[in-house]
Amino acid sequence: MRATLIVAALALASCGDSEPAANQQAAGPPPVEMPPLEAEQGADITDSASRLAANQDGTRMFNRRCGVCHLAGGMGTNVLTPRVGPENALLASRPGGVPADYVQQVVRNGLGAMPGLSRVEVTDAELDAIAAYLAEDEVG
Ligand code: HEC
Repeated sequence: MRATLIVAALALASCGDSEPAANQQAAGPPPVEMPPLEAEQGADITDSASRLAANQDGTRMFNRRCGVCHLAGGMGTNVLTPRVGPENALLASRPGGVPADYVQQVVRNGLGAMPGLSRVEVTDAELDAIAAYLAEDEVG
């Protein structure tokens, strides 16, 4: 009887050891695919001079600077869903677009759970391109 209990306790203990790792893997939203900067084609966006140049790629910059929170599954999208409705939660495909001056204000000053982003994190040239991209009505 006692031996059976000890065996059962050992079995439970060893189960317990392997479970936390499995549970951690299952928890939370799936990770966002983010290739390293070096893997991207085109302008060298790690070069600070090119980050200040006009004519940045708004789509790429939005995905790069804002995507971790504002693509599907991001915490920005999740916070916005109950506030503005699921059809408006993804900024890049919000019907009618997002007004450019509103984007500029929110990014520099922050809003609720979103921190304001400095000119080091997002340069003015990058933000101009992002705001123009988000202002487009991209339904479809
Ligand atoms: C750290 C995560 C995070 C990053 C990075 C981030 N945001 Fe946000 N953003 C949020 C959250 C969270 C909210 C919702 C704030 C709230 O309602 O409390 C939000 C809200 C907004 C809103 C307001 C939308 C509305 O309907 O009122 C805009 C516009 C916006 N973000 C634009 C951007 C842009 C552009 C970038 C990139 C330059 C960016 N955000 C980067 C988390 C983020």
